[in-house]
Amino acid sequence: MTELENAIRLRRTFAIISHPDAGKTTLTEKLLLYGGAIHLAGSVKARRAARHATSDWMKLEQERGISVTSSVMQFEYDGYHVNLLDTPGHEDFSEDTYRTLVAADSAVMLLDNRRGVEERTRQLFDVCKKRRIPIFTFVNKCDRAGEDPLKLISDVEADLAIKCHPVTWPIFRDGTFVGVYDRRRALIHLFSRDEEHGAHRAEVKVGSLDSKELHALLGPESHAQLVHDITLLDEAGHPFDHDELLAGELSPVFFGSALTNFGLEPFLKEFLELAPPPLPRESTIGTIQPTDPAFTGFVFKIQANMDPKHRDRVAFVRVCSGKFEAGMQVNHVRTGKPLRLSAPQQFMARERTAITEAWPGDVIGVMDRGVLRIGDTLSNDGDLEFQGIPRFPPEHFARVIVKDPMRRKQLDTGLRQLTEEGAAQVFFTSGTDTTSPTPIVGAVGLLQFDVMLFRLETEYGVPCRFEPFAGRYPRWVVGPVEDIERVARGQGTTLLFDAKGNPLLLFQDAWALRWAQDKEKTITFLETAP
Ligand code: G4P
Repeated sequence: MTELENAIRLRRTFAIISHPDAGKTTLTEKLLLYGGAIHLAGSVKARRAARHATSDWMKLEQERGISVTSSVMQFEYDGYHVNLLDTPGHEDFSEDTYRTLVAADSAVMLLDNRRGVEERTRQLFDVCKKRRIPIFTFVNKCDRAGEDPLKLISDVEADLAIKCHPVTWPIFRDGTFVGVYDRRRALIHLFSRDEEHGAHRAEVKVGSLDSKELHALLGPESHAQLVHDITLLDEAGHPFDHDELLAGELSPVFFGSALTNFGLEPFLKEFLELAPPPLPRESTIGTIQPTDPAFTGFVFKIQANMDPKHRDRVAFVRVCSGKFEAGMQVNHVRTGKPLRLSAPQQFMARERTAITEAWPGDVIGVMDRGVLRIGDTLSNDGDLEFQGIPRFPPEHFARVIVKDPMRRKQLDTGLRQLTEEGAAQVFFTSGTDTTSPTPIVGAVGLLQFDVMLFRLETEYGVPCRFEPFAGRYPRWVVGPVEDIERVARGQGTTLLFDAKGNPLLLFQDAWALRWAQDKEKTITFLETAP
């Protein structure tokens, strides 16, 4: 096996998707604990502070207690090199999450054992399903009473139209969660709880289902219930099928508690074995295999001013094929210009470490002087481009009013950079004149506006205010200019142009949008940017 093949075999790149409060922060922290990347998980009191320390950069995030930007965390476990792509917790930053999911090879769907599938879980699940990436399910908070596991699973199946195959099953003693049964290995894991909310790894005893010890521990009733459940799953449940998993049609399910560390180790072991290594990617010249020797990658995220002391900008590149080496000269396909990727780094939230090499599945941060954009392909062989990262139309629009008109230049710079990072979308009322007095910004979620205002003021020195702008039903449109302009003259309809000059029509209500879609046969209405 070549060095490249071996590196690919041992790499896993995934993201966790969940509804707020399901326990994503806790689980992330515990995976890092088990992966040896941190040595003590935050105790209850330290947790709030620790939460920000691990994945939040901006002061605003700390003030508002939300995680705005996503980061990448690496750890080693069982010989695997794991890249965990963190996604923002708040739904207003869902665009960032969508882009991050494009860089992942699998996803872990985290559910609260009382709530099952919630709204945001469903949205993110849909994005994964469209990409046909494998989705694993982790049912969290089993340390406290929740929905019956069998019912929970059948609800997930009905709700998301996916088959579920429990890989681990919770073991209860008189209603108390004491361990999990690993069905693939036919092993019982019994945990003991520490008094520090899982600051350390949970102590575990491993045994078999019919061991005397388990009988004694559970008592006849709980033991009989467990055997009954497992027999039922074996006989009536969906059998495990690796192809169905890879196609995103079957989800392996795990039970546990991120807070008490119960069930995390069996989950990690099975997950790393079952999850796919870096996947092939579609490009303009066909499928690129990770084993292709030429280095290729794409930018899925740009983060400016991560460190207030150095006003810099970092582009996060997902390596798709070949070996990356520091100082490598690559082709920046969009501009056709060569680009030297110096000082590449890996990230653990704020911590940066210089790296000399990276392999498919890895994410590297490269210093960017304003050349790179989200979706850009880098390659040291040929002109391929990876399939674009979808850009969703904003749901909210606002006019930018600069408090000091003399600072217009700084405003333009700020807006341009925020757009390149994907933190804002800017629109103009003319397709050719991008100096219209009041640019219009768009956001998928309202909190994004707060972030824009904060960053325009603190990073670019342009205090502004935003004036809400009507029109909540946007579509990018492609078609004859005169037809688009005619539709735009309709009552309550507005024509805007994005930073690339693509026309976007805003309708006053869903009805007006539907009417135009039905009537205008020469115009194509697009839900993502062309
Ligand atoms: P999020 O990132 O998905 O929003 O969730 P987060 O980890 O912040 O967890 C949300 C709440 O759920 C926290 O409680 C956390 O302690 C709790 N939690 C996470 N995992 C488990 C688990 O396995 N069992 C139980 N019982 N609770 C869990 P909180 O009261 O909001 O915060 P804190 O006071 O614990 O910091």
